[in-house]
Amino acid sequence: MSVLACQDLAFSYDGKDVLEGVNFTLEHGEYLCIVGENGSGKTTLMKGLLHLNKPTKGKIITGDGLKPSEIGYLPQQTQIQRDFPASVYEVVLSGCLNSMGKRLFYGRKHKQRVISNLEALGILSLKNKCYRELSGGQQQRVLLARALCATKKMLLLDEPTTGLDPVAAEEFYQMIQRLNREQGITVIMVSHDVKGVADHASHVLHLDGRQKFFGTMQEYKEQDWSFMYVKGDKNV
Ligand SMILES: Nc1ncnc2c1ncn2[C@@H]1O[C@H](COP(=O)(O)OP(=O)(O)O)[C@@H](O)[C@H]1O
Ligand SMILES: [Mg+2]
Repeated sequence: MSVLACQDLAFSYDGKDVLEGVNFTLEHGEYLCIVGENGSGKTTLMKGLLHLNKPTKGKIITGDGLKPSEIGYLPQQTQIQRDFPASVYEVVLSGCLNSMGKRLFYGRKHKQRVISNLEALGILSLKNKCYRELSGGQQQRVLLARALCATKKMLLLDEPTTGLDPVAAEEFYQMIQRLNREQGITVIMVSHDVKGVADHASHVLHLDGRQKFFGTMQEYKEQDWSFMYVKGDKNV
């Protein structure tokens, strides 16, 4: 059974349609890259998958026992979030909120999960540092550790490498690839940088207010209009 199926999805804000005709399925362990110009509906779809936006049409079906609250999410960053005045430990621990159920306080298991995620991403030494004093690359690792507190199954990442230098971006992509290949985590990543993920992602969804393309990365590369994105001459 597919881990995720979108059937004829559409979204609108205040009665104005912004995205329609989204139809695709993902299997466990696949890696989907969502591309499209600014305003094409990428973030709207991500929020829909998390049940933060309600579709005006269509259906989102999750399989493999996946609940929306078990999806790890790394949101598109704003300057306000970059200046967040909390310690790395506190930021990562807040990723456990969804799994607290009726408890009021974080338990030992949550705290252990924070430490093991910081360790796995090579940032345990930053544990007591203030989040806003970190470099962009370190901040994204912290947010990835936070997203991993919510899931062992599926990660949604919204433009996680925007603003990173090419070395930090490549390190980030490598980390995501390891989580995908070694831990079998299904990845859905919005990216402007098709070239950067061309060797990692298994599938591509290209949006322009509707679904322009869905298929494997290989099929995407074979489209006669996609070369400018894949070669990096034109960012989407
Ligand atoms: N909260 C909102 N209220 C009204 N319009 C919105 C809202 N969020 C996004 N939009 C509009 O919906 C369209 C798609 O936005 P978005 O999903 O953020 O695009 P992308 O992430 O691809 O840049 C844009 O035209 C945007 O202006
Ligand atoms: Mg967006």
